[in-house]
Amino acid sequence: MSRRREPYPLTACRRAAAPKAHSRHVGSAGLAVAWLGLVCAPPVLAQFDRSNCADCHVANVYTAPAPNHLDEWSRSPHGRNNVGCERCHGGDPGTFERLQAHRDVLGSFNPSSPVHRTQLPRTCGGCHTGPYVNFQTSRHHELLGEGDRRVPTCSTCHGSVGASLLSPAGLERRCSTCHGPDGVAPRPGRAAGARLLLEGIADVRESLDAAEHLIDRIRDEQRQAAFRAAYRQAEVPLIQARQAGHRFVFDQLEERLATARERTGELLAGLVNPAP
Ligand code: HEC
Ligand code: HEC
Ligand code: HEC
Ligand code: HEC
Ligand code: HEC
Repeated sequence: MSRRREPYPLTACRRAAAPKAHSRHVGSAGLAVAWLGLVCAPPVLAQFDRSNCADCHVANVYTAPAPNHLDEWSRSPHGRNNVGCERCHGGDPGTFERLQAHRDVLGSFNPSSPVHRTQLPRTCGGCHTGPYVNFQTSRHHELLGEGDRRVPTCSTCHGSVGASLLSPAGLERRCSTCHGPDGVAPRPGRAAGARLLLEGIADVRESLDAAEHLIDRIRDEQRQAAFRAAYRQAEVPLIQARQAGHRFVFDQLEERLATARERTGELLAGLVNPAP
Protein backbone atom coordinates (compact mmCIF):
# COMPACT_ATOMS: atom_id res chain seq x y z
CA MET A 1 0.00 0.00 0.00
CA SER A 2 1.15 3.56 0.53
CA ARG A 3 4.66 4.33 1.61
CA ARG A 4 4.79 5.74 5.11
CA ARG A 5 6.27 9.18 5.26
CA GLU A 6 6.55 11.76 7.96
CA PRO A 7 4.19 14.72 7.64
CA TYR A 8 5.65 17.69 5.83
CA PRO A 9 7.33 19.42 8.75
CA LEU A 10 4.89 22.27 9.10
CA THR A 11 3.63 21.54 12.56
CA ALA A 12 7.11 21.22 13.97
CA CYS A 13 8.00 24.63 12.54
CA ARG A 14 4.84 26.20 13.79
CA ARG A 15 5.29 24.85 17.29
CA ALA A 16 8.86 26.11 17.36
CA ALA A 17 7.90 29.58 16.15
CA ALA A 18 7.40 31.97 19.02
CA PRO A 19 4.64 34.41 18.05
CA LYS A 20 6.90 37.39 18.79
CA ALA A 21 9.71 36.18 16.58
CA HIS A 22 7.22 35.46 13.82
CA SER A 23 6.65 39.07 12.77
CA ARG A 24 10.21 39.29 11.50
CA HIS A 25 9.46 36.79 8.77
CA VAL A 26 6.21 38.04 7.38
CA GLY A 27 6.50 39.15 3.78
CA SER A 28 10.19 38.39 3.46
CA ALA A 29 10.95 35.26 1.56
CA GLY A 30 14.69 35.44 2.15
CA LEU A 31 14.27 35.72 5.88
CA ALA A 32 11.60 33.07 5.79
CA VAL A 33 14.01 30.58 4.30
CA ALA A 34 16.67 31.39 6.85
CA TRP A 35 14.06 31.07 9.55
CA LEU A 36 12.84 27.71 8.27
CA GLY A 37 16.37 26.44 8.03
CA LEU A 38 17.05 27.50 11.56
CA VAL A 39 13.92 26.48 13.34
CA CYS A 40 13.13 23.25 11.52
CA ALA A 41 16.07 20.94 11.86
CA PRO A 42 17.72 20.52 8.43
CA PRO A 43 17.93 16.71 8.70
CA VAL A 44 14.13 16.60 8.74
CA LEU A 45 13.90 18.85 5.71
CA ALA A 46 16.54 17.02 3.72
CA GLN A 47 14.19 14.16 2.83
CA PHE A 48 11.81 16.45 0.91
CA ASP A 49 12.14 18.01 -2.52
CA ARG A 50 10.88 21.26 -1.10
CA SER A 51 8.25 23.25 -2.92
CA ASN A 52 8.91 26.99 -2.75
CA CYS A 53 5.16 27.53 -2.66
CA ALA A 54 4.80 25.49 0.49
CA ASP A 55 7.91 26.96 2.09
CA CYS A 56 6.68 30.50 1.72
CA HIS A 57 3.14 29.69 2.79
CA VAL A 58 4.45 27.80 5.81
CA ALA A 59 6.66 30.75 6.72
CA ASN A 60 3.67 33.07 6.41
CA VAL A 61 1.22 30.69 7.97
CA TYR A 62 -0.41 33.39 10.11
CA THR A 63 -1.01 35.82 7.23
CA ALA A 64 -1.27 33.75 4.02
CA PRO A 65 -4.79 32.55 3.26
CA ALA A 66 -6.23 29.13 4.16
CA PRO A 67 -3.99 28.04 7.07
CA ASN A 68 -6.20 25.01 7.72
CA HIS A 69 -5.76 23.90 4.14
CA LEU A 70 -1.99 24.18 4.57
CA ASP A 71 -2.08 22.17 7.76
CA GLU A 72 -4.28 19.53 6.17
CA TRP A 73 -1.96 19.31 3.19
CA SER A 74 1.10 18.83 5.39
CA ARG A 75 -0.44 15.83 7.13
CA SER A 76 -2.07 14.29 4.07
CA PRO A 77 -0.76 11.62 1.70
CA HIS A 78 -0.23 14.53 -0.69
CA GLY A 79 2.05 16.47 1.63
CA ARG A 80 3.90 13.31 2.69
CA ASN A 81 4.48 12.34 -0.94
CA ASN A 82 5.65 15.77 -2.11
CA VAL A 83 2.59 16.58 -4.17
CA GLY A 84 3.34 20.30 -4.09
CA CYS A 85 0.81 23.16 -4.17
CA GLU A 86 1.63 23.82 -7.84
CA ARG A 87 0.45 20.35 -8.85
CA CYS A 88 -3.14 21.42 -8.20
CA HIS A 89 -2.93 25.23 -8.35
CA GLY A 90 -0.40 25.81 -11.14
CA GLY A 91 2.09 28.67 -10.79
CA ASP A 92 5.86 28.63 -10.75
CA PRO A 93 7.28 26.63 -7.84
CA GLY A 94 10.87 27.48 -8.82
CA THR A 95 10.89 31.05 -7.51
CA PHE A 96 10.54 32.92 -4.25
CA GLU A 97 9.20 36.02 -6.00
CA ARG A 98 5.61 36.11 -4.87
CA LEU A 99 4.16 37.76 -7.98
CA GLN A 100 6.06 35.55 -10.35
CA ALA A 101 5.14 32.43 -8.38
CA HIS A 102 1.47 33.40 -8.55
CA ARG A 103 1.38 34.49 -12.16
CA ASP A 104 -0.91 31.67 -13.33
CA VAL A 105 -2.56 30.99 -9.99
CA LEU A 106 -6.30 31.70 -10.12
CA GLY A 107 -8.69 31.56 -7.17
CA SER A 108 -10.93 28.51 -7.02
CA PHE A 109 -14.02 30.62 -7.82
CA ASN A 110 -12.59 31.31 -11.30
CA PRO A 111 -13.96 28.73 -13.79
CA SER A 112 -10.56 28.58 -15.54
CA SER A 113 -8.72 27.68 -12.33
CA PRO A 114 -7.50 24.09 -12.14
CA VAL A 115 -9.05 23.94 -8.67
CA HIS A 116 -12.48 25.17 -9.80
CA ARG A 117 -14.98 22.40 -9.07
CA THR A 118 -15.59 21.71 -12.76
CA GLN A 119 -11.83 21.37 -13.42
CA LEU A 120 -11.00 19.11 -10.49
CA PRO A 121 -11.68 15.79 -12.24
CA ARG A 122 -9.04 16.67 -14.81
CA THR A 123 -6.60 18.13 -12.28
CA CYS A 124 -6.86 15.25 -9.81
CA GLY A 125 -7.33 12.75 -12.61
CA GLY A 126 -3.94 13.63 -14.07
CA CYS A 127 -2.50 11.51 -11.28
CA HIS A 128 -5.49 9.33 -10.32
CA THR A 129 -6.23 7.86 -13.73
CA GLY A 130 -8.35 4.91 -12.59
CA PRO A 131 -10.93 6.92 -10.66
CA TYR A 132 -10.92 9.60 -13.38
CA VAL A 133 -11.52 7.25 -16.29
CA ASN A 134 -14.48 5.72 -14.47
CA PHE A 135 -15.82 9.07 -13.29
CA GLN A 136 -15.87 10.23 -16.92
CA THR A 137 -18.54 7.63 -17.74
CA SER A 138 -20.89 8.99 -15.05
CA ARG A 139 -23.92 11.24 -15.25
CA HIS A 140 -22.26 13.29 -12.51
CA HIS A 141 -19.34 14.05 -14.82
CA GLU A 142 -21.57 14.90 -17.73
CA LEU A 143 -23.62 17.36 -15.67
CA LEU A 144 -20.51 18.82 -14.04
CA GLY A 145 -19.19 19.60 -17.52
CA GLU A 146 -22.40 21.53 -18.19
CA GLY A 147 -21.73 23.63 -15.10
CA ASP A 148 -24.50 21.97 -13.05
CA ARG A 149 -23.88 23.00 -9.46
CA ARG A 150 -25.89 20.14 -7.93
CA VAL A 151 -23.53 17.26 -8.75
CA PRO A 152 -20.51 16.10 -6.77
CA THR A 153 -16.90 16.63 -7.83
CA CYS A 154 -13.75 14.93 -6.48
CA SER A 155 -13.48 17.20 -3.44
CA THR A 156 -17.08 16.47 -2.39
CA CYS A 157 -15.94 13.07 -1.12
CA HIS A 158 -12.16 13.44 -0.65
CA GLY A 159 -11.78 17.04 0.57
CA SER A 160 -9.88 19.66 -1.36
CA VAL A 161 -6.40 18.54 -0.37
CA GLY A 162 -6.58 16.01 2.49
CA ALA A 163 -7.14 12.93 0.30
CA SER A 164 -9.53 11.61 2.90
CA LEU A 165 -11.51 8.43 2.32
CA LEU A 166 -15.11 8.02 3.43
CA SER A 167 -16.22 5.19 5.68
CA PRO A 168 -19.16 3.14 4.38
CA ALA A 169 -21.54 5.02 6.71
CA GLY A 170 -19.95 8.32 5.66
CA LEU A 171 -20.46 7.44 2.00
CA GLU A 172 -24.11 6.61 2.63
CA ARG A 173 -24.59 9.99 4.28
CA ARG A 174 -22.79 11.76 1.43
CA CYS A 175 -24.97 10.19 -1.29
CA SER A 176 -28.03 10.89 0.89
CA THR A 177 -27.40 14.61 1.05
CA CYS A 178 -28.45 14.63 -2.63
CA HIS A 179 -30.27 11.34 -3.21
CA GLY A 180 -32.12 11.11 0.11
CA PRO A 181 -35.79 12.06 0.37
CA ASP A 182 -35.00 15.77 0.88
CA GLY A 183 -32.14 15.95 -1.63
CA VAL A 184 -31.92 17.57 -5.06
CA ALA A 185 -32.33 14.21 -6.84
CA PRO A 186 -34.17 11.77 -4.54
CA ARG A 187 -33.45 8.15 -5.50
CA PRO A 188 -34.41 5.82 -2.67
CA GLY A 189 -31.98 3.01 -1.96
CA ARG A 190 -29.03 4.38 -3.86
CA ALA A 191 -27.12 5.59 -0.81
CA ALA A 192 -27.65 2.37 1.15
CA GLY A 193 -26.50 0.36 -1.86
CA ALA A 194 -23.28 2.35 -2.07
CA ARG A 195 -22.65 1.71 1.63
CA LEU A 196 -23.12 -2.04 1.26
CA LEU A 197 -20.67 -2.23 -1.61
CA LEU A 198 -18.05 -0.21 0.23
CA GLU A 199 -18.48 -2.55 3.20
CA GLY A 200 -17.93 -5.43 0.80
CA ILE A 201 -14.69 -3.85 -0.41
CA ALA A 202 -13.52 -3.34 3.17
CA ASP A 203 -14.32 -6.97 4.05
CA VAL A 204 -12.29 -8.37 1.18
CA ARG A 205 -9.44 -5.99 2.02
CA GLU A 206 -9.47 -7.31 5.59
CA SER A 207 -9.36 -10.91 4.41
CA LEU A 208 -6.50 -10.07 2.07
CA ASP A 209 -4.58 -8.47 4.94
CA ALA A 210 -5.09 -11.62 6.99
CA ALA A 211 -3.87 -13.72 4.05
CA GLU A 212 -0.79 -11.53 3.75
CA HIS A 213 0.13 -12.21 7.37
CA LEU A 214 -0.15 -15.95 6.82
CA ILE A 215 1.92 -15.72 3.64
CA ASP A 216 4.67 -13.78 5.44
CA ARG A 217 5.07 -16.70 7.87
CA ILE A 218 5.55 -19.41 5.22
CA ARG A 219 9.08 -20.81 5.36
CA ASP A 220 9.20 -22.66 2.03
CA GLU A 221 10.21 -20.00 -0.50
CA GLN A 222 8.60 -21.62 -3.52
CA ARG A 223 5.33 -22.11 -1.73
CA GLN A 224 5.47 -18.55 -0.47
CA ALA A 225 6.07 -17.18 -3.98
CA ALA A 226 3.09 -19.13 -5.32
CA PHE A 227 0.84 -17.67 -2.64
CA ARG A 228 2.17 -14.18 -3.26
CA ALA A 229 1.21 -14.53 -6.91
CA ALA A 230 -2.27 -15.70 -5.91
CA TYR A 231 -2.51 -12.73 -3.55
CA ARG A 232 -1.81 -10.31 -6.39
CA GLN A 233 -4.38 -12.08 -8.56
CA ALA A 234 -6.96 -11.43 -5.86
CA GLU A 235 -5.90 -7.85 -5.17
CA VAL A 236 -6.08 -6.56 -8.76
CA PRO A 237 -9.87 -6.91 -9.10
CA LEU A 238 -10.27 -5.31 -5.66
CA ILE A 239 -8.33 -2.25 -6.79
CA GLN A 240 -10.43 -2.18 -9.95
CA ALA A 241 -13.62 -2.41 -7.90
CA ARG A 242 -12.68 0.72 -5.90
CA GLN A 243 -12.00 2.58 -9.11
CA ALA A 244 -15.18 1.33 -10.81
CA GLY A 245 -17.16 2.84 -7.90
CA HIS A 246 -16.55 6.19 -9.58
CA ARG A 247 -19.11 5.25 -12.24
CA PHE A 248 -21.81 5.41 -9.55
CA VAL A 249 -23.64 2.75 -11.53
CA PHE A 250 -22.34 -0.31 -9.83
CA ASP A 251 -22.51 -3.31 -12.21
CA GLN A 252 -18.81 -3.25 -12.91
CA LEU A 253 -17.95 -2.72 -9.26
CA GLU A 254 -20.11 -5.70 -8.29
CA GLU A 255 -18.50 -7.94 -10.89
CA ARG A 256 -14.95 -6.96 -9.87
CA LEU A 257 -15.78 -7.32 -6.18
CA ALA A 258 -17.27 -10.79 -6.73
CA THR A 259 -14.11 -11.88 -8.54
CA ALA A 260 -11.90 -10.46 -5.79
CA ARG A 261 -14.00 -12.19 -3.13
CA GLU A 262 -13.87 -15.54 -4.88
CA ARG A 263 -10.10 -15.42 -5.41
CA THR A 264 -9.52 -14.26 -1.83
CA GLY A 265 -11.65 -17.14 -0.56
CA GLU A 266 -9.62 -19.65 -2.55
CA LEU A 267 -6.38 -18.07 -1.37
CA LEU A 268 -7.39 -18.26 2.30
CA ALA A 269 -8.62 -21.82 1.92
CA GLY A 270 -5.27 -22.80 0.41
CA LEU A 271 -3.41 -21.11 3.26
CA VAL A 272 -5.48 -22.61 6.04
CA ASN A 273 -5.60 -26.16 4.61
CA PRO A 274 -2.04 -26.92 3.56
CA ALA A 275 -1.78 -29.31 0.63
CA PRO A 276 -0.93 -32.88 1.73
C1 HEC B 1 7.17 34.49 -1.44
C2 HEC B 1 6.07 33.86 -0.78
C3 HEC B 1 5.08 33.05 -1.59
C4 HEC B 1 5.35 32.15 -2.58
C5 HEC B 1 6.69 31.72 -3.14
C6 HEC B 1 4.07 31.61 -2.98
N1 HEC B 1 3.05 32.19 -2.26
FE1 HEC B 1 1.05 31.91 -2.54
N2 HEC B 1 0.62 33.45 -1.31
C7 HEC B 1 1.54 34.11 -0.53
C8 HEC B 1 0.86 35.19 0.19
C9 HEC B 1 1.52 36.13 1.19
C10 HEC B 1 -0.50 35.15 -0.22
C11 HEC B 1 -1.63 36.10 0.20
C12 HEC B 1 -1.50 37.41 -0.57
C13 HEC B 1 -1.65 37.22 -2.06
O1 HEC B 1 -2.71 36.77 -2.51
O2 HEC B 1 -0.69 37.52 -2.80
C14 HEC B 1 -0.62 34.03 -1.15
C15 HEC B 1 -1.79 33.64 -1.79
C16 HEC B 1 -1.94 32.43 -2.49
C17 HEC B 1 -3.19 31.88 -2.96
C18 HEC B 1 -4.56 32.49 -2.81
C19 HEC B 1 -4.84 33.30 -4.06
C20 HEC B 1 -6.26 33.80 -4.15
O3 HEC B 1 -6.57 34.37 -5.21
O4 HEC B 1 -7.04 33.63 -3.21
C21 HEC B 1 -2.91 30.70 -3.58
C22 HEC B 1 -3.90 29.72 -4.21
C23 HEC B 1 -1.47 30.53 -3.52
N3 HEC B 1 -0.92 31.60 -2.87
C24 HEC B 1 -0.79 29.45 -4.05
C25 HEC B 1 0.57 29.45 -4.28
C26 HEC B 1 1.26 28.52 -5.16
C27 HEC B 1 0.61 27.40 -5.94
C28 HEC B 1 2.59 28.86 -5.15
C29 HEC B 1 3.76 28.24 -5.91
C30 HEC B 1 3.59 28.09 -7.35
C31 HEC B 1 2.73 30.00 -4.24
N4 HEC B 1 1.49 30.31 -3.74
C32 HEC B 1 3.92 30.64 -3.95
C33 HEC B 1 2.90 33.85 -0.47
C34 HEC B 1 3.61 33.07 -1.39
C1 HEC C 1 -4.60 18.00 -4.19
C2 HEC C 1 -4.82 19.33 -4.71
C3 HEC C 1 -4.34 20.52 -3.92
C4 HEC C 1 -3.08 20.71 -3.39
C5 HEC C 1 -1.88 19.79 -3.46
C6 HEC C 1 -3.12 22.01 -2.78
N1 HEC C 1 -4.36 22.58 -2.91
FE1 HEC C 1 -4.90 24.46 -2.31
N2 HEC C 1 -6.81 24.10 -2.95
C7 HEC C 1 -7.23 22.98 -3.61
C8 HEC C 1 -8.65 23.09 -3.88
C9 HEC C 1 -9.50 22.05 -4.59
C10 HEC C 1 -9.06 24.34 -3.39
C11 HEC C 1 -10.45 24.95 -3.49
C12 HEC C 1 -11.08 25.19 -2.17
C13 HEC C 1 -12.00 24.12 -1.70
O1 HEC C 1 -12.54 23.36 -2.51
O2 HEC C 1 -12.20 24.04 -0.47
C14 HEC C 1 -7.88 24.95 -2.79
C15 HEC C 1 -7.87 26.21 -2.16
C16 HEC C 1 -6.71 26.87 -1.73
C17 HEC C 1 -6.65 28.22 -1.20
C18 HEC C 1 -7.83 29.16 -0.98
C19 HEC C 1 -7.99 30.08 -2.16
C20 HEC C 1 -8.81 29.48 -3.27
O3 HEC C 1 -8.38 29.54 -4.43
O4 HEC C 1 -9.90 28.92 -2.96
C21 HEC C 1 -5.34 28.49 -0.94
C22 HEC C 1 -4.74 29.78 -0.41
C23 HEC C 1 -4.58 27.29 -1.26
N3 HEC C 1 -5.45 26.34 -1.74
C24 HEC C 1 -3.22 27.19 -1.11
C25 HEC C 1 -2.52 25.99 -1.24
C26 HEC C 1 -1.13 25.83 -0.87
C27 HEC C 1 -0.23 26.92 -0.33
C28 HEC C 1 -0.80 24.54 -1.12
C29 HEC C 1 0.49 23.82 -0.84
C30 HEC C 1 0.93 23.85 0.54
C31 HEC C 1 -1.99 23.89 -1.67
N4 HEC C 1 -3.01 24.81 -1.72
C32 HEC C 1 -2.03 22.58 -2.11
C33 HEC C 1 -6.46 21.90 -3.97
C34 HEC C 1 -5.13 21.69 -3.60
C1 HEC D 1 0.61 15.29 -8.82
C2 HEC D 1 -0.17 14.09 -8.60
C3 HEC D 1 -1.44 14.20 -7.76
C4 HEC D 1 -2.50 15.07 -7.89
C5 HEC D 1 -2.65 16.22 -8.88
C6 HEC D 1 -3.48 14.65 -6.92
N1 HEC D 1 -3.03 13.56 -6.22
FE1 HEC D 1 -4.07 12.49 -4.85
N2 HEC D 1 -2.42 11.40 -4.43
C7 HEC D 1 -1.20 11.51 -5.08
C8 HEC D 1 -0.21 10.70 -4.39
C9 HEC D 1 1.26 10.54 -4.79
C10 HEC D 1 -0.89 10.08 -3.31
C11 HEC D 1 -0.32 9.11 -2.29
C12 HEC D 1 -0.33 7.77 -2.93
C13 HEC D 1 -0.47 6.67 -1.96
O1 HEC D 1 -1.05 6.89 -0.89
O2 HEC D 1 -0.01 5.60 -2.33
C14 HEC D 1 -2.29 10.52 -3.38
C15 HEC D 1 -3.29 10.07 -2.55
C16 HEC D 1 -4.64 10.37 -2.72
C17 HEC D 1 -5.74 9.72 -2.06
C18 HEC D 1 -5.63 8.59 -1.03
C19 HEC D 1 -5.56 7.26 -1.75
C20 HEC D 1 -5.52 6.11 -0.78
O3 HEC D 1 -5.60 4.98 -1.27
O4 HEC D 1 -5.40 6.34 0.44
C21 HEC D 1 -6.89 10.32 -2.48
C22 HEC D 1 -8.32 10.00 -2.06
C23 HEC D 1 -6.51 11.36 -3.41
N3 HEC D 1 -5.13 11.36 -3.54
C24 HEC D 1 -7.39 12.22 -4.03
C25 HEC D 1 -6.99 13.32 -4.78
C26 HEC D 1 -7.86 14.40 -5.20
C27 HEC D 1 -9.34 14.50 -4.86
C28 HEC D 1 -7.10 15.27 -5.93
C29 HEC D 1 -7.51 16.58 -6.54
C30 HEC D 1 -8.15 17.56 -5.63
C31 HEC D 1 -5.76 14.71 -6.01
N4 HEC D 1 -5.73 13.56 -5.28
C32 HEC D 1 -4.70 15.28 -6.74
C33 HEC D 1 -0.95 12.26 -6.20
C34 HEC D 1 -1.77 13.26 -6.68
C1 HEC E 1 -19.55 10.42 -4.31
C2 HEC E 1 -18.25 10.21 -3.69
C3 HEC E 1 -16.98 10.22 -4.51
C4 HEC E 1 -16.61 11.09 -5.51
C5 HEC E 1 -17.40 12.22 -6.12
C6 HEC E 1 -15.26 10.71 -5.89
N1 HEC E 1 -14.84 9.65 -5.13
FE1 HEC E 1 -12.99 8.83 -5.12
N2 HEC E 1 -13.60 7.38 -3.84
C7 HEC E 1 -14.85 7.32 -3.28
C8 HEC E 1 -14.95 6.08 -2.52
C9 HEC E 1 -16.17 5.61 -1.73
C10 HEC E 1 -13.70 5.43 -2.62
C11 HEC E 1 -13.27 4.09 -2.00
C12 HEC E 1 -12.77 4.39 -0.63
C13 HEC E 1 -12.31 3.17 0.14
O1 HEC E 1 -12.03 2.12 -0.45
O2 HEC E 1 -12.25 3.30 1.37
C14 HEC E 1 -12.86 6.29 -3.45
C15 HEC E 1 -11.53 6.03 -3.74
C16 HEC E 1 -10.69 6.93 -4.38
C17 HEC E 1 -9.26 6.82 -4.46
C18 HEC E 1 -8.41 5.72 -3.85
C19 HEC E 1 -8.48 4.48 -4.69
C20 HEC E 1 -7.62 4.51 -5.89
O3 HEC E 1 -8.02 3.94 -6.90
O4 HEC E 1 -6.53 5.09 -5.87
C21 HEC E 1 -8.81 7.87 -5.21
C22 HEC E 1 -7.38 8.19 -5.58
C23 HEC E 1 -9.97 8.65 -5.60
N3 HEC E 1 -11.10 8.06 -5.07
C24 HEC E 1 -9.93 9.77 -6.39
C25 HEC E 1 -11.06 10.43 -6.86
C26 HEC E 1 -11.06 11.44 -7.91
C27 HEC E 1 -9.83 11.89 -8.67
C28 HEC E 1 -12.35 11.87 -8.06
C29 HEC E 1 -12.88 12.86 -9.08
C30 HEC E 1 -12.69 12.49 -10.48
C31 HEC E 1 -13.16 11.14 -7.09
N4 HEC E 1 -12.37 10.27 -6.42
C32 HEC E 1 -14.53 11.33 -6.89
C33 HEC E 1 -15.85 8.25 -3.39
C34 HEC E 1 -15.86 9.30 -4.29
C1 HEC F 1 -23.70 16.74 -4.40
C2 HEC F 1 -24.90 15.98 -4.77
C3 HEC F 1 -24.75 14.52 -5.16
C4 HEC F 1 -24.05 13.53 -4.50
C5 HEC F 1 -23.21 13.65 -3.23
C6 HEC F 1 -24.28 12.32 -5.25
N1 HEC F 1 -25.07 12.57 -6.33
FE1 HEC F 1 -25.69 11.23 -7.73
N2 HEC F 1 -26.57 12.71 -8.82
C7 HEC F 1 -26.73 14.00 -8.36
C8 HEC F 1 -27.52 14.73 -9.35
C9 HEC F 1 -27.95 16.19 -9.24
C10 HEC F 1 -27.81 13.83 -10.38
C11 HEC F 1 -28.61 14.10 -11.66
C12 HEC F 1 -30.02 13.69 -11.44
C13 HEC F 1 -30.87 14.11 -12.60
O1 HEC F 1 -30.44 13.95 -13.75
O2 HEC F 1 -31.97 14.58 -12.32
C14 HEC F 1 -27.19 12.57 -10.02
C15 HEC F 1 -27.24 11.43 -10.78
C16 HEC F 1 -26.83 10.18 -10.34
C17 HEC F 1 -26.96 8.96 -11.13
C18 HEC F 1 -27.41 8.87 -12.58
C19 HEC F 1 -28.74 8.20 -12.76
C20 HEC F 1 -29.88 9.06 -12.32
O3 HEC F 1 -30.67 8.58 -11.52
O4 HEC F 1 -29.97 10.22 -12.75
C21 HEC F 1 -26.52 7.94 -10.32
C22 HEC F 1 -26.49 6.46 -10.67
C23 HEC F 1 -26.08 8.52 -9.06
N3 HEC F 1 -26.28 9.90 -9.12
C24 HEC F 1 -25.57 7.81 -8.00
C25 HEC F 1 -24.97 8.40 -6.87
C26 HEC F 1 -24.33 7.66 -5.79
C27 HEC F 1 -24.29 6.15 -5.69
C28 HEC F 1 -23.83 8.58 -4.94
C29 HEC F 1 -22.99 8.32 -3.71
C30 HEC F 1 -21.83 7.45 -3.92
C31 HEC F 1 -24.14 9.88 -5.47
N4 HEC F 1 -24.84 9.73 -6.63
C32 HEC F 1 -23.78 11.09 -4.86
C33 HEC F 1 -26.20 14.56 -7.22
C34 HEC F 1 -25.39 13.90 -6.31
